[in-house]
Amino acid sequence: MNRQAALLERLADIVGPSGIITDRPELESYSVDWRRLFPGRPSCVVRPSSSMQVAQVVQACREAGVPLVPQGGNTGLAGGAVPDASGTQIVLSLNRMTAIREVDPVGLAIEAEAGCILKVAQDAAQAAGRLLPVSLAAEGSATIGGVVAANAGGVNVLRYGMTRSLVLGLEVVLPDGSIANGLRRLRKDNAGYDWKQLFIGSEGTLGIVTAAVLRLVPRPKRAVTALLSVADPDAALRLLELAQDELGDQISAFELISRMSLDLVEKHAGLKPPIAEGEWFVLIEAASSLAGLREAAEAMLGAAFERGIALDGVIAESGAQAAQLWALREHVTESEARGGKSVKHDVSVPLPAIPHFVADAWKAVAAGVPGARANVFGHLGDGNLHYNVLVEDSHDTGTVNRIVHDIVAAYGGSISAEHGIGQYRVGELARYRPSTEMELARKIKKALDPEGLLNPGKVLSP
Ligand code: FAD
Ligand code: MLT
Ligand code: ZN
Repeated sequence: MNRQAALLERLADIVGPSGIITDRPELESYSVDWRRLFPGRPSCVVRPSSSMQVAQVVQACREAGVPLVPQGGNTGLAGGAVPDASGTQIVLSLNRMTAIREVDPVGLAIEAEAGCILKVAQDAAQAAGRLLPVSLAAEGSATIGGVVAANAGGVNVLRYGMTRSLVLGLEVVLPDGSIANGLRRLRKDNAGYDWKQLFIGSEGTLGIVTAAVLRLVPRPKRAVTALLSVADPDAALRLLELAQDELGDQISAFELISRMSLDLVEKHAGLKPPIAEGEWFVLIEAASSLAGLREAAEAMLGAAFERGIALDGVIAESGAQAAQLWALREHVTESEARGGKSVKHDVSVPLPAIPHFVADAWKAVAAGVPGARANVFGHLGDGNLHYNVLVEDSHDTGTVNRIVHDIVAAYGGSISAEHGIGQYRVGELARYRPSTEMELARKIKKALDPEGLLNPGKVLSP
C-alpha cells in the first residue's frame, strides 16, 4: 500500500468512512473559494466529529508529513480556506462539529463547536433573550470557527468590537496534535499569557479552533434604522460626528453605500432603494433598551437635515422595513460578484482620512486603469471601506491593488481591516508590513508549526 493510501486508511479509522470524501464531484465545493478565484485540488476532505478526532487527524497528517487546510463555511474572501492545486493537501472540514453546548443568559456567554453556523448561534442567543453581536451578510453559512480564525468584523464592530473582543475562551488543536483547552468563560483572567489571542485571526495557520466561548450582550429592545443620502464621504463623516454627539454608544451600525453599490443591488438582486436621487448613502442603526431612543434619533436626523448634512432619507417604521433597508446593504457583495470581475479591497484608514482616501483613490484608479469603475461601500464607522474596483480584465488586479494600497499606506492604513490575508494578499502583506513585524510573525509560526503543515502559503509565504 502506498503512503497516501495508508494515510487515507488511518484517517478513515479515526473519523469513520462517512467522514472522508474522495469523490471528485463531492470535493468540488470544498476545493474553490466563494469568489471562485482560487481553484484548488485536495487529495481528500476529512470531517472529524469531535475535538479528539481533530487531534488524531492532525497527528496522523503530521506523521505522514501531509499539509492540512482547515475549512469552516468557506465564505472567506481571501482564499484562505482552500488547498493549493498540487493534489497533496487535505481539507479538514469542521462541518460535522456543530453543537451549541450552552447558552448562559446571566453570565452572557455561548459555547459552541467550531462548525456551528453563525446564524444558528445568533438564533440560540436570541431565544435566550440575548444578542450575539457578530453580524455579517454571510452569517447563514459562516461558522463560529471560521469567524474566530478570521477575526471577522461585520456591521456591529462600531459598538461591540471585532470577533476578538467577543472571545472569552477557546479550544484549539495545535499543529503537534495536542489539545489546548481554554474554554473558560471568565470576564477577568490575567493568569499568564492570553494565548488564545494568537489563534484569533490566524486564519488556520497556527492551530485548529474546535470550540469557542463567545460573549453575549443584553438584547436591545428597540432599534431605529434609517437610510440617508449625503453629498459625499465628508458629509457622511460629519453625520457620524453628529450621531456620536447625540446618540453616543447607542449607534450600532454606520455603513457607507455608494450609488454604484445600490445600482448593482437593483440590477442583480432586484431590490429598489427607497431614495431615488443621490451619489452616497448612509445606513445608520441605533439600538437601546431604554425608552426615548426613537425621539433622540429623530431629533438627530432633524438636525442633520437642518444643517444640510443629510439631503434625503427614510426611517424604518417597522421591523420589516428595517429589514428591507438592511437587505440593500447585505446584497452588495453578491450583486457585485454577479456583475462581473472586481478587484476587492478591504482597507482601513484613520477616520478623518476617509474622504481624502476616496478622492485620491478614484483619481489614481481612473488614471491608471481606463474604464474601471469603483464600487465603494463598507463600515465607515470603523474607518473600513471595501474600495472595490470593477474591471474588464482581472489581469489588472496587481495594478489596481498597488494603486489603492499605496494610497492606504500613505494614510497610515491597513491593507486588510477584516477579511484577512489568506492567499489573496500574501504578497501585499509582505510589501506593506515592516520587516520586523513580518519576522516576528515568522517566529511565531515556526514556534507553533515548525514543519509548516498547517495551511501553508496562507498569511505568510511558505
Ligand atoms: P472559512 O471561509 O471556511 O475560513 C476562513 C479562514 O479561517 C481560512 O483561513 C480557514 O483556513 C480558517 N478556518 C476556518 N475554520 C477554522 C477553524 N475551525 N480553525 C482554524 N482555522 C479555521 N467578513 C467580515 O469580516 N465582515 C463582513 O462583513 C463580511 N461579509 C461577508 C459577506 C459575504 C456575502 C461573504 C461571502 C463573506 C463575508 N465576509 C465578511 C467574509 C467571511 O464570511 C468571514 O471571514 C467569515 O468569518 C468566514 O467564516 P467561514 O466559516 O466561512 O470560514
Ligand atoms: C461586507 O462588508 O459586506 C463584506 O465585508 C463583504 C465584501 O467586502 O464584499
Ligand atoms: Zn465588510
